[in-house]
Amino acid sequence: MSGLPRLEDLGSLQGRSVLVRVDFNVPLSHGIDGTAEISDDLRIRAALPTLRWLLQQGANVNACTHLGRPQGVPEQRFSVTPLRQRLAELAPGVELLENLRFNPGETANDPAFVTELVAGHDIYVNDAFGASHRAHASIVGPPQFLASASGRLLAREVEVLSGLRDAPRRPFVAVLGGAKVSDKLGVIDALLEMVDALVIGGAMCFTFLAAQGHRVGASLYEDSMVQHCKQLLNGDTVIHLPEDLTVLGPGGVLGDPDAGGEVRQVGADVPDGWIGTDIGPGSAAAFSDVICSAGTVLWNGPMGVFEDPRFGGGTGAVAAAMAETRAFTVVGGGDSAAAARHFGVDRDMDHVSTGGGATLELIEKGDLPGLAALRDSTTKNSTTRDS
Ligand code: 3PG
Repeated sequence: MSGLPRLEDLGSLQGRSVLVRVDFNVPLSHGIDGTAEISDDLRIRAALPTLRWLLQQGANVNACTHLGRPQGVPEQRFSVTPLRQRLAELAPGVELLENLRFNPGETANDPAFVTELVAGHDIYVNDAFGASHRAHASIVGPPQFLASASGRLLAREVEVLSGLRDAPRRPFVAVLGGAKVSDKLGVIDALLEMVDALVIGGAMCFTFLAAQGHRVGASLYEDSMVQHCKQLLNGDTVIHLPEDLTVLGPGGVLGDPDAGGEVRQVGADVPDGWIGTDIGPGSAAAFSDVICSAGTVLWNGPMGVFEDPRFGGGTGAVAAAMAETRAFTVVGGGDSAAAARHFGVDRDMDHVSTGGGATLELIEKGDLPGLAALRDSTTKNSTTRDS
């Protein structure tokens, strides 16, 4: 799937005013005096090739983004001021509009807000891959009115993620973790149709282990999903589950080793009152073998509570295997991108997606509202260029 208009399709940009939708929804840390600092500027750096290219073409560039989830009114903690400062260092000359979600018209896709956004602009570029699953005003509105194109980041994300759907090098393995089966149900169902094997760790493995009849103790698990997991386990695709676990005993606190609580390695059954916090060393080795013999690996979601050093072994082993394997490796954004950085392997991956929900939705559905809007704008492009 592509058919997306590219930057080169836009014709001369000299002196033209370009509105660029970026996804600078980055993590911020707030000091006690209220000042905000960017904890990870990956999403800003990832948009630089597009922004710098537009500047080199002589365009006047106005970028726009959402930050957090303000409810349609300005809120100081969601101000884009720290983003503006970083952008001024990385791409001087690019202006950044205030947080789009300070206006209720953004999430409501209000035509009046679209009119406001496109006013004074000749061209629209969408480089906000991470927000392109949202049918919001700044994503689906401007392509109806302006000659439009996909930015470099968005185009690369679509090429890699669509490639996983269309022609993965086999065996294709997906490694999934994270808290809940229900959050990833759509993508699990879709992946089972695409992959040769699914590897499951993280808290979601307890719902699958329960479906196999194992005891889950006090681990996070979803009773309502057990039946569905049973059906998936009886399907045609191989699903690898942990055969051993790292567990934390009563009284222990996640993220606070000093609080006490015993840590043990057990089999696939969690003792009553204990919580499963990571896959065990045997499973980490088994999962690593699957990754190392794959042709393509998609990794989404940590294997355990890796931020707590007592429970980082499984995620660290998966990260190391991702770096070692000869497979084409894709990290599916969000927590797994943070984990890849935490274990120092992000640069060894073939692709680290900047998306979270957008990445999973593109893999699941093969298209996103923001991509469809760009494809529909191609007539507008030729009309504008011919006029
Ligand atoms: C993300 O962080 O996944 C994107 O920026 C989308 O943010 P949202 O879930 O608040 O729409």
